[in-house]
Amino acid sequence: MVGSGSLPEETGGPEVAIVLVGGFGTRLRPLTYEVPKQLIPCAGQVALYHVFDLVPSSVRQIVLACGYKAAEIESYLEAHPYPLPVRVIREETPLGTGGGMKNASEGVSDPFLLMNGDVVASVDLTRMIAAHREHGGLGTMSLFEVEDTRPYGVVALGAEDRILRFVEKPEPHDAPSHWINAGVSVWSREVLDRVPTGREVSFEREILPGLIDSSDSRGRHGVYGFTFREFWEDAGTPERLLHAQRLLFDHGQRRRIPLSAGTGPSVRPPVSVGVGCRLEGAHVGPYVTLGDRVVLEEGSSVEDSVLMDGVTVGRGATLRNAIVGPGASIPPGAEVRGKVLVREGAPQG
Ligand code: GTP
Repeated sequence: MVGSGSLPEETGGPEVAIVLVGGFGTRLRPLTYEVPKQLIPCAGQVALYHVFDLVPSSVRQIVLACGYKAAEIESYLEAHPYPLPVRVIREETPLGTGGGMKNASEGVSDPFLLMNGDVVASVDLTRMIAAHREHGGLGTMSLFEVEDTRPYGVVALGAEDRILRFVEKPEPHDAPSHWINAGVSVWSREVLDRVPTGREVSFEREILPGLIDSSDSRGRHGVYGFTFREFWEDAGTPERLLHAQRLLFDHGQRRRIPLSAGTGPSVRPPVSVGVGCRLEGAHVGPYVTLGDRVVLEEGSSVEDSVLMDGVTVGRGATLRNAIVGPGASIPPGAEVRGKVLVREGAPQG
């Protein structure tokens, strides 16, 4: 168990949130060879803590279903305690989204929350839980409307937002709507009984379709959608991570973000600057997160980017739409656009 803080008041909602963080983050390689996806900063804090910030006040414990780079996640939690207890459960081999959920479910509350570890969203989970209780279903899934549904799970919605069908990553002609699984849901604990143990199980492909017309022993029946608008992003690719950062900066989630940028630099907000950075004579922003001890040398310029701890940007170098891993050095005069960079000597794949 890592971290502790004052516990929220009991509201009758889910007391446990299982957060899935066991994926390899292949679409963010080579950076994810070094850093797990959830520990990449975005608008001033690691992506994982943006997910934690969504949990409603009923939640007393967050359980992390970890696999890939679990040790790094655990160390980060120890060094930067979150104000709620976080329990880390490791998988020996990847168990998939369903298997990972089940593996982390000992002592879970009824109902419980299930969250992907890389979503950025404006969803109000207190309202989602209230809707869940009202419908009396087995589960309620948050849904966001997108134009291109191909990379996502798509639902057909019926009366009172009952989910009638769920199709994972459909071809456009098979997509029943534009409402997609936003990666945050609430479930009856009995749903866990449907997940086989000891092998990889995809919750979306193997379990969810069977829940849509099913009940638990307390008569909770079917799965409902909770639609929300404003913003959502799955920060799983470089472009989407930078888009997620812009969304977070733009939607007023700046309260926690340190905006002080030292002396002298030309700063165009929104910008988040870590401790011990040197930015004199550099141009920073908008939409930039700098980790700790980042050095931007004279005349360099950084926009719409994420630079992790200890990055150095040489004199006159320009970075746009870049994600730079810890300790990397950008040579003087370089022009970097739309790239994920890691330090020399870091694993490249
Ligand atoms: P890509 O390799 O780039 O597709 O990323 P991913 O597998 O890390 O993430 P994806 O978006 O496909 O998965 C959704 C969520 O489930 C993410 O938060 C993942 O960390 C998590 N996840 C995926 N596979 C597993 C697994 O085998 N075990 C656990 N515990 N979590 C998983």
